[in-house]
Amino acid sequence: MAARIRTQGETPNHRPARRPTAARYSLCYEETMTLLEGKKALIFGVANDHSIAWGIAKAFHAEGATVGFSSVESLIERRVRPLAESIGSTFVEPCDVQDDAQIERVFNRWSEQEGALDILVHALAFAKREELDGAFVDTSRDGFTLALDVSAYSLVALARAARPLLRPGSSILTLTYYGAEKVVAHYNVMGVAKAALEASVRYLAADLGPEGVRVNAISAGPIRTLAASGIAGFKGMYGTFRNVAPLRQNITIGDVGNTAVYLASDLSRAVTGEVIYVDGGFSVLGVPLPDEG
Ligand SMILES: NC(=O)c1ccc[n+]([C@@H]2O[C@H](COP(=O)([O-])OP(=O)(O)OC[C@H]3O[C@@H](n4cnc5c(N)ncnc54)[C@H](O)[C@@H]3O)[C@@H](O)[C@H]2O)c1
Repeated sequence: MAARIRTQGETPNHRPARRPTAARYSLCYEETMTLLEGKKALIFGVANDHSIAWGIAKAFHAEGATVGFSSVESLIERRVRPLAESIGSTFVEPCDVQDDAQIERVFNRWSEQEGALDILVHALAFAKREELDGAFVDTSRDGFTLALDVSAYSLVALARAARPLLRPGSSILTLTYYGAEKVVAHYNVMGVAKAALEASVRYLAADLGPEGVRVNAISAGPIRTLAASGIAGFKGMYGTFRNVAPLRQNITIGDVGNTAVYLASDLSRAVTGEVIYVDGGFSVLGVPLPDEG
C-alpha cells in the first residue's frame, strides 16, 4: 500500500517544512493509495458497462490491480474487449462455464500470459426466463439443473481450475442475493441456486483456507443489469427499494466494486467464508415499510 504519511493539522496545500515527530504522524487515505498494487485479477461475467463485474473491474483498476476478463464468446468482441481496452487490459478470453475444457483453456492462457493469480471474481448466473416468472413449484428438472450448474457449480469449477495459480493471500469472490435466504417473488430457482452458491463459498473457504486462499460472497441489493431484467417484477422491486432500505438509496455497481476491493485486498486478510451485504441495510429489516406521506 502506498499511503502517504501526512502530519496532524497538515492540509494538502500547506505542508510544514520541518520533519514531524513520530507522535504527530497519522496515516491518511489519499489518491496515492493503491490497495491492489501488484495484484492480478481475473474477472468472469462482464456482459456490458452495467454489469456488476464491470463495476468491480473499474474499482480494481483504480486500486492498481492488473485485470483480465473472461465472458461468453458472443459478448467478447462487441462488448467486453472495448471495455477491457478502456482500462488497458489485454487479457480477454471466451468461456462458457458449463464446459470444463473451456475453463481449463482460460486458466492455461492466464498462466502463459500472467503466471500467478491473486483475485478470482465469479459474477455470473443464468436461469431460463420462464423459471423466473410464476411459481417455484413449477420449476422444470432441466431448468433446475441448468440454473444450479451455471450459477453455483461454476464457482467450484473455477476455484478448482484456478487453485494451482493462486498465491497465498489470494481472494475468490462471488455475487449472491438475499433471495438465497428469504422468498423473493419470482426469484424462484435462482434463490435455490444462490443458497447452493453461498454454501459452496463456506465449503471452498474451508478447503482453500490452509493454502492462504480466501473465499467470500457479496450479497448485493437490486441493480439494473441484463441478468436482472430477466426476473419478472424486477422493475417494481427496484423502484420501491430506495423507499424502504435503511440507507434510502439504490445500490450501484460502484458500491459493489468498493466492497470487492476490500475483500480482494489485504485489509480483509482474516475474513473468509462470509456473505457481506451491500444492500443499504435492506436485509436487516423484518417488515419493510415505505416512508409515510
Ligand atoms: N443485478 C442484481 O440485482 C444482482 C443482485 C445480486 C446479485 N447479482 C448477481 O451478480 C452476478 C452478475 O450479474 P449482473 O447482475 O451483473 O448481470 P449481467 O447480465 O451483467 O451479468 C451476468 C453474466 O453472466 C454471464 N453468464 C451467463 N451464463 C454464462 C455461462 N454459461 N458461462 C459464462 N458466463 C455466463 C453472462 O454472460 C453475463 O456476463 C450474478 O451472479 C447475479 O446473480 C445481481
